[in-house]
Amino acid sequence: MALISLTNISKVYQMGAVAVNALYSIDLTIKQGELVSIIGRSGSGKTTLLDVIGCLSSPTSGEYFLDGASVSSLSDVDMAKIRNQSFGFIFQTFHLLPRQTALENVALPLLYNGASKEERRARAQEALQQVGLSNREHHLPRELSGGQQQRVAIARALVNRPKIILADEPTGNLDSKSGDEIIDILLELNQRGHTVILVTHDVEIAHRLTRKIMIADGRIVQDV
Ligand SMILES: Nc1ncnc2c1ncn2[C@@H]1O[C@H](COP(=O)(O)OP(=O)(O)OP(=O)(O)O)[C@@H](O)[C@H]1O
Ligand SMILES: [Mg+2]
Repeated sequence: MALISLTNISKVYQMGAVAVNALYSIDLTIKQGELVSIIGRSGSGKTTLLDVIGCLSSPTSGEYFLDGASVSSLSDVDMAKIRNQSFGFIFQTFHLLPRQTALENVALPLLYNGASKEERRARAQEALQQVGLSNREHHLPRELSGGQQQRVAIARALVNRPKIILADEPTGNLDSKSGDEIIDILLELNQRGHTVILVTHDVEIAHRLTRKIMIADGRIVQDV
């Protein structure tokens, strides 16, 4: 069974009198454990597609099934619940809280699921260990390199043990060596069973992934 199944998904942004068609009748299935890249020019709809998959925004029309359950008709509250349980998000800008340590940043998503303080700490430590940053727990973001900040963000994405990792240009702000390290971590997470979907401009990065989906003007034009 497909983990992610989109049928005839469209997304229209209404800007006053102007409608922006960001996605047109997208059909897409992704199986558990896949390693997928989404490529395409700026403005082609990559982030919009990732946001719909990650339940950050609802499609305007179409059907979305996640793990066999329809999500296109859920309330905002239920959508937020699914989002927190199923997805870990990684962005181009790391979105770390500047006055919180690496450990505190990673533990943050656990505040909303009722874990005890000890458990939050233990799980955040475990997630930092997975990205090789056990020795930076007490550093603030500004005391870390860009690559290390992105690794903290990955640990934060992992702390709820999501099935699916969604990464939107995670190497866009990094030099190529730090970027390669981030991709290595994502490949390793995939090996350990996470489904990984990565948006990238970088064709070389896309070549390292098993499946490449190309978007142009809101449509899937290639899927190999
Ligand atoms: N919140 C929004 N409101 C209105 N229009 C939007 C919104 N978000 C995106 N768009 C429009 O939808 C289209 C797709 O945008 P999207 O951000 O998905 O592109 P992208 O492929 O991620 O581009 P980039 O590579 O530059 O990040 C663009 O034309 C954009 O202007
Ligand atoms: Mg984008």
